[in-house]
Amino acid sequence: MKAKKNSPIGVFDSGIGGLTVLKEINRVLPAEGTIYLGDTARVPYGSKSGDTVTRYSLEIAKFLVKQGIKLLVVACNTASAISIETIKKESPVPVIGVIDPGARAAIHASTAKRIGVIGTNTTIKSNTYLKAMKELDKGVHVFAMPCPLFVPLIEEGWIKGKIAVLIAKKYLRYFKDKKIDTLLLGCTHYPLLKPVLSEVMGDRITLVDSAIETGKEIKRVIKETGLERKSEIKPLRRFYVTDSPERFINVGERFLGQKIKNINKINVGG
Ligand code: DGL
Repeated sequence: MKAKKNSPIGVFDSGIGGLTVLKEINRVLPAEGTIYLGDTARVPYGSKSGDTVTRYSLEIAKFLVKQGIKLLVVACNTASAISIETIKKESPVPVIGVIDPGARAAIHASTAKRIGVIGTNTTIKSNTYLKAMKELDKGVHVFAMPCPLFVPLIEEGWIKGKIAVLIAKKYLRYFKDKKIDTLLLGCTHYPLLKPVLSEVMGDRITLVDSAIETGKEIKRVIKETGLERKSEIKPLRRFYVTDSPERFINVGERFLGQKIKNINKINVGG
C-alpha cells in the first residue's frame, strides 16, 4: 500500500487516555489530519491478558488501515508494551508506539541513572519499559510500580485534591528509598495527574511524559519519510469510539483541551 502525504494519521487507545498523545500530535503537527479510535467498549486494557490486548489492537489497526491512514500511532502504553511487534508485522503503514520515545526521554533526563516507572498492571508486568531502557543503557537501574487506581481516578476527573494525593502517596512510597531522579509516566492518563505526582515526589524528581516524547517522534518520522501533509485546506480530525460517544466527549474534551466533533460509534470486533 502506498502511503499518501495528505492521508490522515491513525491514533488508537483503549479509551480516552490516548487523547493526551493526540493533543501533542495536533500541537506539533497542526497541518496533519487525524483519525482517533478509542476502544471505549473494551477499556481498560491495563488489567487484561496480553493475548486479549493483542487481539483488540490488531482489530483496531486493521480498521484504521482500511480508513486510508499513512501512519499508525499506538497511543496506549499497554498495547504498545504488549503488542507493538505483532502490530508492526501486520501493518502496511509505519507504526509508532509510546514505549521507545518514553524510554529514550527518561534515559536522557536521568543523571543518576536511577529511574522509576509507573503504569498499568499489564504494562509493568511485561517489563517492556525496563527492557527498552536497559537496551539504551545497560547500567541503568529501573524501579517499576503499577498504579491501577490512577486510571479510574483520572477518568472521574479527580486529578487534584486530598484523595488523589493520598492514593499517589500510597503508590509512590515505593520509590522513597530508591534514590531515583526521574519518574517515567508509563500510561496515557498519567500526564493529567502531573501536579499531584510532582507534589508527592518533590520537585527534584523529573517527570517524563511519554505523550510529549511520542509527539516529537511522530514529527521526526513524518519528516524523514517525506509524509508531511501539503495542503492549504484545514485538516480533518475524526473520532471513532466502540461505545456511546457521550462519556467520551465529556471527559475527552478535558483531555484534549478542545471540542470533539466528527465522532461515530463503530464495531471493530468483527
Ligand atoms: N491506555 C492505557 C495505558 O496507557 C490506560 C487505560 C487502560 O488500562 O486501558 O496503559
